[in-house]
Amino acid sequence: MPTILITGANRGLGLEFVRQYAADGWRVLATVRDPLSGKAASDAGAEVYVADVTDPASIQRLHSSLAGVPLDILLNNAGIYGKDQAFGAVDPDGFLAVMRTNALAPLKLAEAFVGQLTGRKIIASVSSLMGSIAENSSGGFYAYRASKAALNMVVKSMALDLAGEGITALALSPGWVRTDMGGPNAPQEPHEAIAGMRAVLAKVTLNDSGKFFHFDGRELPW
Ligand SMILES: NC(=O)c1ccc[n+]([C@@H]2O[C@H](COP(=O)([O-])OP(=O)(O)OC[C@H]3O[C@@H](n4cnc5c(N)ncnc54)[C@H](OP(=O)(O)O)[C@@H]3O)[C@@H](O)[C@H]2O)c1
Repeated sequence: MPTILITGANRGLGLEFVRQYAADGWRVLATVRDPLSGKAASDAGAEVYVADVTDPASIQRLHSSLAGVPLDILLNNAGIYGKDQAFGAVDPDGFLAVMRTNALAPLKLAEAFVGQLTGRKIIASVSSLMGSIAENSSGGFYAYRASKAALNMVVKSMALDLAGEGITALALSPGWVRTDMGGPNAPQEPHEAIAGMRAVLAKVTLNDSGKFFHFDGRELPW
């Protein structure tokens, strides 16, 4: 049975990833930040663990709990949007909190679990079209855009550093999706975005390492 570790799995895209992978027969290891928020993931068939991805001690505890468990996919999904991001009003602590969650945490999780990757050997990180420098035509949203651009660079470097170990590192864009983060006006339902990203993950090979894929399968420019 293939195994996937999914962060930020109590709601939104993370929970939908849990539902679809569990329904497909995968062993799903799901992390939640609040121990009381794991019921939906657990009801969907996941084994639930507590982890705040910005806290190194919490990642260490998660790593100890999962010692020796082989993982096909590490899926860095947990993320925050942040606030006060307009030019002239950027909050420094808020900016750094977004960077820490969206760019640094996926790297630290990869460092913790790289030795347990087997089978598909994929490190997938949920990025955003808003992190594409090439696609930025409207500006603003400094923290979120910068954090996802930084995540994309982390993915590219991991692809190069880990190629010798046969590990595929890639970034995924879910589109604009109706979750707490995406809001009610987003055009896509979580099930569509997740089905698309799962199709990408099912198809990729080591040759795709270091790439950025939209949920519809298109490769995106950095
Ligand atoms: N929705 C969209 O349109 C969209 C578009 C592009 C990219 N994305 C990306 O997709 C991913 C999931 O987004 P979403 O729409 O599902 O957002 P969401 O509904 O706001 O859910 C975010 C998830 O991340 C978790 N999380 C946040 N900070 C964490 C931390 N420090 N440690 C552990 N977990 C943490 C949250 O846990 P709590 O419940 O404890 O807060 C929650 O489970 C994010 O990386 C986001 O940037 C989303």
